[in-house]
Amino acid sequence: MAKHHVSTTVNGDAVEFLCETEQTLLDCLRDELDLTGAKEGCSSGDCGACSVMLDGRLVCSCLVLGVEANGKKVETIEGMASGEKLHPLQQKFLEHAALQCGICTPGFLIAAKALLEKNNNPTETEVRYWLAGNLCRCTGYDKIIRAVMDTAEDMRKGA
Ligand code: FES
Ligand code: FES
Repeated sequence: MAKHHVSTTVNGDAVEFLCETEQTLLDCLRDELDLTGAKEGCSSGDCGACSVMLDGRLVCSCLVLGVEANGKKVETIEGMASGEKLHPLQQKFLEHAALQCGICTPGFLIAAKALLEKNNNPTETEVRYWLAGNLCRCTGYDKIIRAVMDTAEDMRKGA
């Protein structure tokens, strides 16, 4: 069957690609656009490793079809740093050693960024609930939660 032509915006750049009807957005990002930051953990919407923003909404890209990105704005982990300058969340994850293997990290960062853009003064419980859809099998959650809380505090201070 003929492939679909998708026109979208990824991290601010106009992008076009061809994909099969059944290809997920995650597969399109990784296989068609070489954006391998979003990870495939479960392929069933349970782990959050594939998290991206689609028109400002946090989504599991394994549950979205590539064709659904047509005409929409996609934001991935590749767009989080500004050139060499890490996003404050990325910096705090490093400072707090909030990662080990790193498979879950892009998803946590995308999800945490979405939270802090809505609410830069979350309680720890709110952070834990917000990130409940992101699973980490090696770091444990405390360092990740500390990194997010610390970033939020800096944001409030205007750092
Ligand atoms: S790979 Fe998408 S939620 Fe796990
Ligand atoms: S750092 Fe390995 S799964 Fe989270």
